[in-house]
Amino acid sequence: MVVLVSGANGQLGQSLQFIAPNYPDIHFIFCSSADLDISNLENCQTVFSKIKPNYCINAAAYTAVDKAESEPEKAYLINVIGAQNLAAVCKQYATVLLHVSTDFVFDGNASKPYSEDDIPNPTGVYGQTKLDGEKGIQATFENYYIIRTSWVYSQFANNFMKTMLRLASERDSISVVNDQIGTPTNAVDLAAALVQIALTDNRQPTTDNFGIYNFSNEGQCSWYDFAKKIFEINNKNIDLKPIPTSSFPTPAKRPKFSVLDKTKIKNTFGLEIKSWEDSLKTI
Ligand SMILES: NC(=O)c1ccc[n+]([C@@H]2O[C@H](COP(=O)([O-])OP(=O)(O)OC[C@H]3O[C@@H](n4cnc5c(N)ncnc54)[C@H](OP(=O)(O)O)[C@@H]3O)[C@@H](O)[C@H]2O)c1
Repeated sequence: MVVLVSGANGQLGQSLQFIAPNYPDIHFIFCSSADLDISNLENCQTVFSKIKPNYCINAAAYTAVDKAESEPEKAYLINVIGAQNLAAVCKQYATVLLHVSTDFVFDGNASKPYSEDDIPNPTGVYGQTKLDGEKGIQATFENYYIIRTSWVYSQFANNFMKTMLRLASERDSISVVNDQIGTPTNAVDLAAALVQIALTDNRQPTTDNFGIYNFSNEGQCSWYDFAKKIFEINNKNIDLKPIPTSSFPTPAKRPKFSVLDKTKIKNTFGLEIKSWEDSLKTI
């Protein structure tokens, strides 16, 4: 079972590298953006013609939510053209594609967790390009799993947890928004879920399971609650202040509520998902 991972140096990519030794029966091939540029179809074809993977986990993306507002072409090239290119080569080489998407495809006006069937309505360029990437894959072929996730953090690369810990060493007080509600996702848990999906697919191949799935840790919180827990677990004594989104304007508008309903992924793949607090403690 050969699994190619694109975007291998991002936080999800590094999390997949971290757990790879737990799966000796899988031959992982990790491609950084220098090894495989997903926005370049010719490059994708060259790499796939050599590797002919059974599965491709796409951990590559343009993830700078605010910067995307001022460079939409770059976000489009990676998140839409890149996703389409991978779908095209996966179709050509009979590879199953596991593609990661985002809670930011939703507008956040819901008051109960989003299911896979809820209608997306992105509020910014990043969310729009991720949604268009999903549609590009769906228009190309059927052998895909699109996994939407939220608030990804890990010990690797850049993320909210690492920013909070850095700020705690530089400042006495920090203000964090408390009126955006979602669920943190440990990238290592997401990585394990992706591998579990590929393993299940490999063990019992069926077209019935292809489609869109939600994955995050269990529970919900605000960014303020998340920061509070990060400081508590890491014994950081800092004056943490809750503020409304209106006091922290950003170029991209973010969903107020983006909790994902994970019933489908749990039922289909038998996943047991840790609470966000328990998973945060494992880092
Ligand atoms: N981070 C979050 O909070 C969050 C939330 C919801 C969903 N997601 C989704 O989760 C997935 C993983 O995110 P992440 O946090 O691991 O992202 P990340 O840390 O920003 O990593 C993204 C990786 O993609 C690579 N990349 C960029 N352009 C590329 C290209 N043209 N070809 C190949 N690789 C390219 C980057 O490589 P270089 O550094 O070399 O450019 C980087 O290593 C993404 O699909 C993202 O949209 C993330």
